Amino acid sequence: MAEHGIPRVKLPPDARLDTLAVREGLPPSAWGENSEALFLTSSFVQPDAATAAARFANEEEAFIYSRFTNPTVTMFERRLAALEKAQACIATSSGMSAILLLGMGLLKAGDHVVCSQSVFGSTVMLFGREFAKFGVETTFVSQTDVVQWRAAVRANTKLFFAESPTNPLTEVCDIRALAELAHAAGAWLAVNNCFCTPALQRPIDYGADLVVHSGTKFLDGQGRVIAGALCASEALVNERFVPVMRSAGMCLSPFNAWVVLKGLETLSIRMQAQSARALELAAWLQAQSAVERVYYPGLASHPQHALAMAQQSGTGGSVVSFIVAAPGGEGPAAARRNAFHVIDCTEVCSITANLGDTKTTITHPASTSHGRLSEEQRQAAGITQGMIRVAMGLDDIADIKADLARGLSGLSGL
Ligand SMILES: Cc1ncc(COP(=O)(O)O)c(C=O)c1O
Repeated sequence: MAEHGIPRVKLPPDARLDTLAVREGLPPSAWGENSEALFLTSSFVQPDAATAAARFANEEEAFIYSRFTNPTVTMFERRLAALEKAQACIATSSGMSAILLLGMGLLKAGDHVVCSQSVFGSTVMLFGREFAKFGVETTFVSQTDVVQWRAAVRANTKLFFAESPTNPLTEVCDIRALAELAHAAGAWLAVNNCFCTPALQRPIDYGADLVVHSGTKFLDGQGRVIAGALCASEALVNERFVPVMRSAGMCLSPFNAWVVLKGLETLSIRMQAQSARALELAAWLQAQSAVERVYYPGLASHPQHALAMAQQSGTGGSVVSFIVAAPGGEGPAAARRNAFHVIDCTEVCSITANLGDTKTTITHPASTSHGRLSEEQRQAAGITQGMIRVAMGLDDIADIKADLARGLSGLSGL
C-alpha cells in the first residue's frame, strides 16, 4: 500500500482507467471524507527536530513544505500518472512551467533540442529564445516529416519535443517513429498531450519518455485554473525534476491541484462528448462555401487521419481549426478581416484564447496564441491570417453552428 513512506489509496492492481480517474490518490484523512480533501497549508508540523532533519535530508518520506510536497498535489500527481500509465508525475504552476521544468531538469549549456515548428507559440519562444540564453540550441522541424527530425539530430541532441495534435493546426506526429529516432540518438522524447489528454491518447504506450500537460485545458475542463504537469519515469521525476522544483519553485498551488484533480474525474466523458460535437462541427464547416479548409484529425481529408485514428481513440478531439475564404486571393489583410468578422458575429462562443473548457471558445491564432511569433515563424507553422480555431465545449452543436453561420453567410456573398 505504501510505495515509499506515503500510503496509496487501496485499489486492485488492474483497476481500469475510469476507476483510476475517480479514485487514484491517497487514502482519506482520519475523518473519512469521500471527496478528496484540500490541504491548504504551506507547511507541515514535524513531530520533533530529529525527524524534521531526516525528512529534510530525504532520509524519510513525508509532507514537509508545499513548494515540493503537499497531499492534494500528490493526489493529482498520482491520478494523472496512473491515467498516463507513467510511473510518476510532477505538478507545476502552469503548462509553460512544466516545459520550463522539463528544460531545466534535462538540459544544460551546449545541449541541442529538436522541436516541432508547429507547437504552441509560447513553447516556440521558450525553446527558441529563453533556453537559447542559457546555451541550449533548438532546431525547429516539420511536425510530420520524420526525415527532417532525423536530419536535425546532432551528437549533442538530448531532447525531441512534439505536441500531438498541435495547436491550432491539429497536425499529428508519429509518436512511435519519433521515439525510435530519439532513442537511437540517445535523446528523450517529450510529447505535449494537451489536446488529447490520456482519455484519448497515451504517448507512453508509443515509446515517449515524458508527457507534458497544460492542466489549464481539458484536465480542469471548466476554465477555472492555470496548472501543468510532467509525467515520466520515477527516476526522471525524482532525480531530474524534484530537485529543480525544490530550488526553483514552479509548484502547483494546493487549491489549483484540487480543482484539476476533481476535473480528472469527468475527463473521459467530457472528452467523448466534446469530440463527438467537434466531429459534427468539422463536417459541417467543410460543407460551407465560405470555408476554404478545415483542420480536424477526425476528418478523412486530414493529412494524418489514418495515423490519428490509430494513435488516438475517439473521433479526433475537441479542437477544430478552419480557414475562411478570401475571395479573389485578396491577401493576408483581407483574410484577417474576414476571420475577425466571423469571430465578431458569434454570440454564444466565448472569444478567448483558452481551450478545453465546457464553454465553446473561438480565437484567431495568428494574433493571439501565436501572436508573438514572427510572420516567418507563423508561415513555417502554417498559421495564416484567415485561420480561426474553435475548441468545442458542451454547448449544443446546433447553437454553435448557428453562431458561426451568422458570420460565414455574410462572407459567402463577398
Ligand atoms: C498545446 C499547449 N501547450 C501548452 C500551453 C501552455 O499552458 P498554460 O497556459 O497552462 O501555461 C498551451 C496554452 O494554450 C497549449 O495550448
